[in-house]
Amino acid sequence: MAKSRVDLLEEIAPDVERLYNRHMDAPRLWYPHEQIRWGEGEDFGAHPWSPYDYQIADGVRSSIYVNLLTEDNLPYYTDSILAHSPVGHPIRDWTFQWTMEENRHAMVMRDWVHISRCIDPTLLEDGRRVQMQKGEVPRPATFAELIAYVSFQERATQIAHRNTGSKLPKDDKIGRNVLGLIAGDETKHYLFYRDLTLAAFAIDPSAMMIAVSRQVSTFAMPGTGIPSFTRHAVRIAKEGIYGLGQYLSDVLTPILSLWDVEHLKGLTKEAEVARTELVNVKAKIAETVERMAHKAALIKPSLSRSH
Ligand SMILES: [Fe+2]
Ligand SMILES: [Fe+2]
Repeated sequence: MAKSRVDLLEEIAPDVERLYNRHMDAPRLWYPHEQIRWGEGEDFGAHPWSPYDYQIADGVRSSIYVNLLTEDNLPYYTDSILAHSPVGHPIRDWTFQWTMEENRHAMVMRDWVHISRCIDPTLLEDGRRVQMQKGEVPRPATFAELIAYVSFQERATQIAHRNTGSKLPKDDKIGRNVLGLIAGDETKHYLFYRDLTLAAFAIDPSAMMIAVSRQVSTFAMPGTGIPSFTRHAVRIAKEGIYGLGQYLSDVLTPILSLWDVEHLKGLTKEAEVARTELVNVKAKIAETVERMAHKAALIKPSLSRSH
């Protein structure tokens, strides 16, 4: 029988401490204010924003907008994680450290966005007000589901920041550096949650299989409370920054293989059903990605003929 949430939390405490210490042994200290060339900024009253201030593809602009608003939504992510972090448990100390690190992402991104003028500041602030007023973030039902979800989410966020950085104009060294620093933090967060989930699999494989299966079938990039989120998500995917293809190849496949979900032994009946579902969902995603790639390959030649 699957163990209760309290058992897993209790038994995983030494692993939380081990991984938290590993995280702290390799500190990433960087200062948001040192990353920006403040003298390059201009007053928005004297020089109103225009898309010509920073010319870039729509999908890249959408990605900066969505990624920054997602970082802005941090208070609610912290709230969601603390809901599964009892007082006195080391996961609470980790959560405060994590929150402190995440907090600098929105700060430095916004500084860069305003100085470089890569995003319409009015649209950005309108989006922030709408999104934050909702307090909308995923609320995984159990600790097991939470650590599975955050593993996927941190990896997805890392990929999204990294790929956005690579699409910035070559001469925007500040922007590339800022997104690189953020992606570096996300990598460390991902490693913490990925390895914590691996440790949880060793403690209670059946409960974790059920939790992971549930999260994979419902996983979506954060940002559903952002105005016109679907439109932005389509543009971001079309630009090749983050979409179902990246979710499959860069998130799902490496993580599930590291957790070795296909070969785990000693599962309960319920967990075996969950594993079958998980394998099926992954296969369906792979089919969709292949179909989309095929469609894109068919569309490209006809588009080039029409021009
Ligand atoms: Fe972040
Ligand atoms: Fe993160």
